[in-house]
Amino acid sequence: MLEPTHQTTIESLTEAEAAEELARLAQEIAHHDAAYHTHDAPEITDADYDALRRRNAAIEVRFPELIRPDSPSSRVGGAPESGFAKIRHRVPMLSLDNVFDATEFAEFCTRAKRFLGRTEPLVFVAEPKIDGLSISLTYEHGHFVRGATRGDGTEGEDVTANLRTMKSVPDRLHGEAPAFIEIRGEVFLTKADFLALNQSQAEAGAKIFANPRNAAAGSLRQLDVKITAGRPLSLFAYAQGESSEPVATTHWDYLQRLKVWGFDVNPLSKRLGSEADAETFQSEIGLARSGLGYDIDGVVYKIDDLALQRRLGFVGRAPRWATAWKFPAEQATTVLRDIRIQVGRTGALTPVAELEPVNVGGVLVARATLHNEDEIARKDIRIGDTVVLQRAGDVIPQIVSVVTDRRSEGSTPYVFPDICPACGSHAVRPPGEVVKRCTGGLICPAQRVERLIHFVSRPAFDIDGLGEKTIQEFYNEGWLHGPADLFKLPEREAEIATREGWGKLSAANLSRAIRTRQTVPLERFIYALGIRRIGATNAKLLARHYGSFANWRTQMLAATQLGSDERLELGSISGIGPTIAEELTDFFGEARNIAALDELAAELTIQEAAKADAADSPIAGKTVVFTGTLETMTRPEAKSRAESLGAKVTDSVSKKTDIVVVGADAGSKARKAVELGVRTMTEAEWREHVG
Ligand code: IVH
Repeated sequence: MLEPTHQTTIESLTEAEAAEELARLAQEIAHHDAAYHTHDAPEITDADYDALRRRNAAIEVRFPELIRPDSPSSRVGGAPESGFAKIRHRVPMLSLDNVFDATEFAEFCTRAKRFLGRTEPLVFVAEPKIDGLSISLTYEHGHFVRGATRGDGTEGEDVTANLRTMKSVPDRLHGEAPAFIEIRGEVFLTKADFLALNQSQAEAGAKIFANPRNAAAGSLRQLDVKITAGRPLSLFAYAQGESSEPVATTHWDYLQRLKVWGFDVNPLSKRLGSEADAETFQSEIGLARSGLGYDIDGVVYKIDDLALQRRLGFVGRAPRWATAWKFPAEQATTVLRDIRIQVGRTGALTPVAELEPVNVGGVLVARATLHNEDEIARKDIRIGDTVVLQRAGDVIPQIVSVVTDRRSEGSTPYVFPDICPACGSHAVRPPGEVVKRCTGGLICPAQRVERLIHFVSRPAFDIDGLGEKTIQEFYNEGWLHGPADLFKLPEREAEIATREGWGKLSAANLSRAIRTRQTVPLERFIYALGIRRIGATNAKLLARHYGSFANWRTQMLAATQLGSDERLELGSISGIGPTIAEELTDFFGEARNIAALDELAAELTIQEAAKADAADSPIAGKTVVFTGTLETMTRPEAKSRAESLGAKVTDSVSKKTDIVVVGADAGSKARKAVELGVRTMTEAEWREHVG
């Protein structure tokens, strides 16, 4: 049994102590939850249990930025952090990009039309955007067989049993249905059901939910389905995943099919004859918003024609054929107590506003980002000012403006520091950039720990049991200078086992987790290095383009020479471009980085990049150049299609080019292809070739 030890008053807790105590409370409360709910064998009185939860909540109110993903306050009673089986979505569940005004919406339409190479207006379906929990329902031969939460988009939790308790999830589809189909929608609570639930939770002394979204998620993700059954969850269906046969040619017709099958479709959904009708619809829904039975945070606009949707495809994690037009954010005023400078893993100095905690749209906010030096100067934000704070959806709160009438006499403009608060190195701001950076690179402790945390994070090496706290602990011990040292930790297993909070088993588990990750896909490896602007998407592009670590390393070293073929090739990879190329060549231009890279690679087996989707495509692995004017597709469309079939698209013709697609009025590139003996194709031949 865990000993509760928390005598310190909350006011006198330091941030580090608070973090430590929250971690301990999460563990302690989870332990008692399991004792009570799973084993039906409580070890403490209800009053003592409530005291633990209250203490946890009070610390979280004072330090909202320390709220843990596994915080007891975000869990409902005995709901476990995991405990649900995982389900892989056949088609990933993606998110939506946002627009906030008519101009941004018009830009979205222009981008889509440019991609499609068309000028006529687009037909849209508009649907109110409910802030709930998205889920995927699988039907086989008309029967509901599986249901999952969105999870990380690729893999969600199996909540089939919970979904079966919902009236709005049909057990059987009415009428004709494909042999296999995935249907997607939003699970939510109406405002009235949410209030009633909180009322009865309060009466029972149980958890109060902060908003309908949390309440819906907490209600669905219950291991005990009886609890879910007692919650009045609703569902609106609005999208499709995989289907064994096409079910409609427009999204609107698809929505009609959903209704026939027995789903609820939001009755305010509307087909708009052209994008010009969106602004009116947006304001109509905005006016209707407060009278609706459920919370919405905007309207989703989807291009109606499914063939156009397919052509447009996705960029990153969002479709090019849909966008969410969000309502203006919620605002509040408060006092700016201080400006703290954070040093990020790439050395960026980010100012953070420390605020008098204030409630903004139902969420307590005590910190806000100030973005950068110019932003502070532009808004003339000063310590002690009364400021207008805004929060839009789940977006990080921002300071919109200063209430200058309330400014105290003698206040002075804020001066951004010239030295890194973490290591004392000079902070510089390259011409044309907005961000000031620490020059301390590898010696700066802020960057070193941050880099290690990034390195072991989920999308990078994903090492189980190596969280922020452990990294910091081992770093303080002097065991971790760079990422290669992580792989030497198993040598210290015996020593780790004797540390406070560790044991033989946990130390052995850590060693095992580290060893399993010594074999790593190239894209994760590249991402893990934490090079500026190389996020998961770019890391994947690079891995797919260069294939192996050895090749990537050689090519990058060669690319450090300005004007080299390798530099040109890097800059012409679709999605990379010259700015990102420069970040890479800056990294490879620093000898200490290469040394660290090689030291790290020596510990690992780096797998070649998979080209799974395009395994049997005739252009997989080929380098293709498009030149001249294309007639049946636009350039971005041609590029995107070729890449999805596993080809690399570059802009310049060299010996390494496999195919040059020659459009009308082609010039020097077509001639160069002939000179070099590179295969050329007309647009028609290309279409024939790729099918
Ligand atoms: S479509 C590929 N339609 O918004 C497009 N999403 O910000 C996938 N949402 O994860 C989403 N109402 O949870 C779509 N009518 C609607 C929606 C909707 C709410 C949520 C959904 C999604 C999130 C994206």
